[in-house]
Amino acid sequence: MSKKVRVTETVLRDAHQSLLATRMTIDDMLPILGKLNEVGFNSIECWGGATFDACLRFLNEDPWERLRTLRREMPDTRLQMLFRGQNMLGYRHYADDVLEEFVQKSVENGIDVIRIFDALNDIRNLQTAINAAKKASRDGKKPEVQVAMSFTTGEVFTTEYYVEYAKRIAKAGADSICIKDMAALLTPYKTAELVKAIKDAVDLPVNLHTHYTSGLASMCLIKGVEAGADIIDTSMSPLALGTSHAPTESMVAAFQGTEYDTGLDLVLLNEIRGYFMELRKKYIESGLIDQKMLAADAGALIYQVPGGMLSNLLSQLKQAGKEDLLNDVLAEVPRVRADAGFPPLVTPSSQIVGTQAVFNVLTGERYKTVTKEFKGIVRGEYGQTPVPIDPEFRKKIIGDAEPIDCRPADLLEPELEKLRKECAEWAESEEDVLSYAQFGQVAVKFFEKRRDAKFGLDGKHGDAANGVHPV
Ligand code: CO
Repeated sequence: MSKKVRVTETVLRDAHQSLLATRMTIDDMLPILGKLNEVGFNSIECWGGATFDACLRFLNEDPWERLRTLRREMPDTRLQMLFRGQNMLGYRHYADDVLEEFVQKSVENGIDVIRIFDALNDIRNLQTAINAAKKASRDGKKPEVQVAMSFTTGEVFTTEYYVEYAKRIAKAGADSICIKDMAALLTPYKTAELVKAIKDAVDLPVNLHTHYTSGLASMCLIKGVEAGADIIDTSMSPLALGTSHAPTESMVAAFQGTEYDTGLDLVLLNEIRGYFMELRKKYIESGLIDQKMLAADAGALIYQVPGGMLSNLLSQLKQAGKEDLLNDVLAEVPRVRADAGFPPLVTPSSQIVGTQAVFNVLTGERYKTVTKEFKGIVRGEYGQTPVPIDPEFRKKIIGDAEPIDCRPADLLEPELEKLRKECAEWAESEEDVLSYAQFGQVAVKFFEKRRDAKFGLDGKHGDAANGVHPV
């Protein structure tokens, strides 16, 4: 039986999110989409994550328009998105009606593979998204529903923990499972052990997603594939390595002539490489890519905190003029994390635990100052933590506030109608309402610019009083 490995190309989403703060524009993508479409990737990840936010906030692009363009230019390729379950692409929990509408519109506008994850690995935060994705369709075609487990390390995150989570994911109705190692904490042998255990426990394709940050990604992918992983995430080489992914061409070459052969054409990939090399040069020259991001750094493996979190901690301490306390803070992080029920250290829990650890060290007394977000995670506002929080500790942190032990979104009333009304002045479509739902005033600013451009107005200089506008 062929064990052909499928390749998901991330250059249009995670690669530029990891290396250049998600600033690749649709104009930078357009000239190469035809060629990317010919490769025969399992899918191209190109939407969701931070792309939606970056489009509205920095690039003055309608993210929905971007998706429709990608759909049109790559008709033979499955388009993939990433989203954070009940958070969608925003920064709070949304009511189920908004989430259901968002999933349907994403599929309608072009998405074929939906990768959903929750920072706490709380399956309840994923169930509505899974159900909505299973219901959604475009021209009668249903998307693939992939659920990603946030990989992290720490005493409770044993292989057994992930196997149990994989079983819950399968039961929840996922079509495939992703091991999502955003912090590059996987090592090659750990990967093999984990993939094998998950493949033995559930009958679903396994997709490996790991970053190059600590320099191990291609080794992890090889060992993972040997252990039974079906799909790997890679990036075209000019935007690979560093905090991004293993290079697509190199991985394709690595499997050539073996039972895992991807079947992808290296010559075609090399042509595509030429285009992205030019982009890389441009991004480095303009300072969008910081060369620091391109070097391997095994620091994450030493300190067991993601690289981004380490630099955040250091900059918080610098601001306080207390850089010398870094080791104390690094020792405090695991204690705070244990108190908070061992959340995986990913956005937003990495910031919440990190900041609290800094406060604990700087004030010289643990939990003398407690952030609002830390209270939130202890109260259950983000969902269930991997380990229950000690009731005594909880009382100390949140006082008499009522702990939340239901699915947090159960406390939310339907809100789509209210959001529609709020943005009626600007919204030209249901998609606009969903942009507004997630990014509020950022979306409004975008709508205003769009309206001004449409009518040839320059909103900044418009003289509304006498109706004169520079055109
Ligand atoms: Co990633």
